[in-house]
Amino acid sequence: MTKLGVLASGRGSNFQSIIDSIKSGYLDARVEILITDNPDAYAIERAKNNGIPFLIMKPGDYPDKDVYYSAIAGALKERGVELVILAGFMRVVKKPLIDAYPMRIMNIHPALLPSFPGLHGQKQAVDYGVKISGCTVHFVDEGVDTGPIIIQAAVPAYHDDTEESLAERILKEEHRIFPYAIKLFIQGRLRVEGRKVIISGQKKADSILINPPIL
Ligand code: GRF
Repeated sequence: MTKLGVLASGRGSNFQSIIDSIKSGYLDARVEILITDNPDAYAIERAKNNGIPFLIMKPGDYPDKDVYYSAIAGALKERGVELVILAGFMRVVKKPLIDAYPMRIMNIHPALLPSFPGLHGQKQAVDYGVKISGCTVHFVDEGVDTGPIIIQAAVPAYHDDTEESLAERILKEEHRIFPYAIKLFIQGRLRVEGRKVIISGQKKADSILINPPIL
């Protein structure tokens, strides 16, 4: 059973998808702790509803970011956390936490990286006018959404999409690929070589997405 630590700042629907995946037996894991930087995060309710301990840790309560992320790393290590999940944690994680968990921190981003990193990935995609967008789970390094990519899912984007409608389409896929990425980790199937994540026993499919479809 793999011990997870989840960091979330808001609604926590990805956190919920992980909780549900554990409950259903899809993931052989346990969430040891939810850490949030936001006392109003709905993720806290989800933790309470599922008997998961939580900590509210606000950066303003620490002298600087390094001390803040060292404290987070300490809280995770104290509980034996093996894999850290950024499930809508709206901050750029700093070195002390990354060094404590090298290639052991996963983030989900609502765009097909390296396109549209940073905030509002869905709005960036709508404004740009792409025909395909999606989501990405990647290991976290010191950059903003730059770490080695584990899995991506593509969805169509339409000319009349709003940020909200595209976000909703993407979110459904987030809830599928994040638990799967965690499963691959738990199964010991992920190896990082430079920028590349090598997935042992990976099946290759020829599925393609063309948007608009050629009919
Ligand atoms: C998701 O869109 C995720 O990709 C991004 O932040 C959002 C979090 O949503 N990093 P939720 O809190 O998991 O519902």
